[in-house]
Amino acid sequence: MARKIIKTAHGPYELKPQKNPVALCMCGLSKNQPFCDGSHLKTMNEEEGKIYEYDDQGKRQEIDVCGCGDKAARCQGVSKVTLDTR
Ligand code: FES
Repeated sequence: MARKIIKTAHGPYELKPQKNPVALCMCGLSKNQPFCDGSHLKTMNEEEGKIYEYDDQGKRQEIDVCGCGDKAARCQGVSKVTLDTR
């Protein structure tokens, strides 16, 4: 089973106070979850408003997402998205 998780943080969350600093990964890219391994540095030049996908090797690509949440390139246009405009 696969799970897609979207995270927007560009750095870790540091737990304080600790004898030694402990940083929790908030970007989702660390190979040492839940701890930060510095992989968030790959996110530093992401552009606001764009969505990126990282593969297992940390290679990034920008993706288009349909209103249904699927990749626009894969979307069959069958999903119904209802916007609550109240
Ligand atoms: S915050 Fe994710 S690797 Fe540092």
